[in-house]
Amino acid sequence: MHDIVLIPGDGIGPEITESITTILDEAGANINWIKCTAGLAAQEELGDPLPDETLEAIDNYRIALKGPLTTPVGAGFRSVNVAMRKKFDLYSNIRPAKTLPHIQSRFDNVDLVMFRENTEGLYIGKEQWVKEDSHAESIAVVTRDASEKVIRAAFEYAKKKNRDKVTLVHKANILKFTCGLFMEVGEEVAKDYPDIEYEDIIVDNMAMQMVMRPEQFDVIVTTNLFGDILSDLASGLVGGLGLTGAANIGDDAAMFEAVHGSAPDIAGENKANPIAFLLSALMLLEHLDEHSLAERIRQAVYYTLEDKTVCTPDIGGQGSTTTFTEAVCKNLNR
Ligand code: NAI
Ligand code: MG
Repeated sequence: MHDIVLIPGDGIGPEITESITTILDEAGANINWIKCTAGLAAQEELGDPLPDETLEAIDNYRIALKGPLTTPVGAGFRSVNVAMRKKFDLYSNIRPAKTLPHIQSRFDNVDLVMFRENTEGLYIGKEQWVKEDSHAESIAVVTRDASEKVIRAAFEYAKKKNRDKVTLVHKANILKFTCGLFMEVGEEVAKDYPDIEYEDIIVDNMAMQMVMRPEQFDVIVTTNLFGDILSDLASGLVGGLGLTGAANIGDDAAMFEAVHGSAPDIAGENKANPIAFLLSALMLLEHLDEHSLAERIRQAVYYTLEDKTVCTPDIGGQGSTTTFTEAVCKNLNR
């Protein structure tokens, strides 16, 4: 039995969480869910978006499956996601984007995995007013230590999964110290992996290349903000945010979540696509070495994608979160 912390999250979070736990239970996953709360839900219930009990549970069990959390835009509390990634030093945010069967998208040959540095960059929240309401500034931090951890994780992943190439994305022409350091560490780490091709590319060109010829990319590693933006772009290449899972991995803890957010525009409407969160849960199962179980669920999802009457509207379906969930459960035993 695996004890896993479960945070349903905000917006569409509870609906997709219900779907994923139903499918995992039906598939016979030996998981004991430790339910906790965070984000807007926790702020409203307990007056704290990141309650101590939730932190203690993650500290104790070390693995969490987390739904999306709403972060107020402009003002209000700071991102709980960012705080948790930092607190447990979940330095790699791993975001695969792969073409799926029966999904219409602009490309049919995308298979890339993005490693986003997850603990620093512009996300440390060091912002200040130089002059109230008219002049603000924000500080980006890049350290050799955090850069090396995520870049090495990307190369180790490439080695383990027999992938050919690592592409490091930066803006070192302008950000000569921060991105310059990240790139310098990339060049050093690459020397330890002579069998893996290494290249670096400036982020604006990268955005264009990904949209024109995404098949040229394999494993990608980049800093926090670029990784955030480019991973949504990568999701778009394979059919949208409803289809891409993610893992936040550190040396002592791991937290699995979808790339997407709480999608307030469709929350409560039974329209949310649970596939992204389910793929995150499959990454969790693989992390637990439950490979055959993960593969069985993956095949049930692929099979279900063929029947658009049960799929959610974001991927051209006429169904709902519930109909998709029921169909996957049925297809587990095909
Ligand atoms: P979003 O990812 O929630 O939504 C963007 C668009 O994609 C919306 O049109 C939404 O309906 C659609 N979408 C997203 N997930 C979907 C799914 N599973 N099925 C069908 N359609 C889906 O991004 P947005 O609107 O910029 O952010 C909303 C909130 O989510 C914000 O408070 C933001 O801070 C938070 N957020 C949280 C994240 C996390 O918890 N890791 C990640 C990204 C955003
Ligand atoms: Mg994002």
